[in-house]
Amino acid sequence: MKKVKVGIVGLGRLGRQHAENLAFRIPNCELIAVCSIIEEEAKKAQEEWGVKYAYTNYEEMIKNEELDAVLIASPSGFHCEQIEKALEANLHVFSEKPLGLYLEEAVRVEEAVKKHENKVFMLGFMRRYDKSYAYAKKKVEKGAIGEPVLIRCYGLDPSEAIGGFMNFAKNNYSGGLFLDMAIHDLDLARWYLNSEAKQVWAIGGAYGYPEIGQLHDAETGAALVKFENGTMGVFVAGRNCSHGYHIETEIIGTEGTLRIGTVPERNMVTVFNETGAVKECSEGFLERFEQAYLSEVEEFINCIREERKPDVTVEDGVLSTALGYACKESFETGELVTVQS
Ligand code: NAI
Repeated sequence: MKKVKVGIVGLGRLGRQHAENLAFRIPNCELIAVCSIIEEEAKKAQEEWGVKYAYTNYEEMIKNEELDAVLIASPSGFHCEQIEKALEANLHVFSEKPLGLYLEEAVRVEEAVKKHENKVFMLGFMRRYDKSYAYAKKKVEKGAIGEPVLIRCYGLDPSEAIGGFMNFAKNNYSGGLFLDMAIHDLDLARWYLNSEAKQVWAIGGAYGYPEIGQLHDAETGAALVKFENGTMGVFVAGRNCSHGYHIETEIIGTEGTLRIGTVPERNMVTVFNETGAVKECSEGFLERFEQAYLSEVEEFINCIREERKPDVTVEDGVLSTALGYACKESFETGELVTVQS
């Protein structure tokens, strides 16, 4: 089959990484179009990477008949609308997480994906494609820890990124701490525990950065989740992690425990000096999940070429949105919330 011709919308923190992967690191595809409402961003990407077309308007880009697929890396509030429009334009779609910020729009997208059955749709739950997370999944499936009983997840952004987040949050609604950040952990919990969430209690506050509270959001939050099969989830999400980007997952089973990223180390180097034995920490998502961002889009392109569907489905998007939204509702009301299914 010929190379898959892709257009990307959104050239921000993550969009540029995806665009570079599409342009230079995935042999079976060709990045032929870039789009950002910021014209300089689109022009810069076009010139830097020799991309054929640059747009400031998404609707214009998806009219381009040379395109086979789009990758959506725009702010979360645009995902649903842009997915639906791309499917209507007969394009394969990869969308960044979360699928939607509200359950109703996520369900609408699910219907649109089902209506366009011959198109590949994939959601950016890249952690499933991270080598350590994928290895842990195989271990769990082979019974290395017996039956999983509880999952404990930390998803903490570095304090250093708080300025960038405040800029982002003032211009775009992120969905709040649970839908924006904890969503990866909520998806992983469903994946490892093989069950859907039933009830949620979530709390949080803005401790080091009260300005986050003014956005009616939590800077640090915790959620306790009961799953339909009786298993449990404990989730900690935060934007004020002084030592770096800390993504850690623990799965406790009936016959053992498995941990991923216990120390969020940058690499295998330990520096021994007057401050002690120091393992430097990973600084951010692009560093920690560089391989996963590439592998997930490689899988998307391979699915198109091989006419098969990826493991991450639109249902995963809907169900994780429902759970993330329930966490947000519980945080806002202080009530125990039953997850909509
Ligand atoms: P960003 O704010 O850095 O970039 C957004 C980009 O979209 C900018 O280029 C902006 O000009 C463009 N844009 C905004 N509105 C547009 C519109 N209507 N049409 C066309 N372009 C538009 O955002 P960032 O951090 O790159 O996040 C983008 C998405 O990726 C978000 O949905 C976020 O949740 C997700 N994300 C996922 C991560 C993961 O680990 N999978 C990590 C970081 C972000």
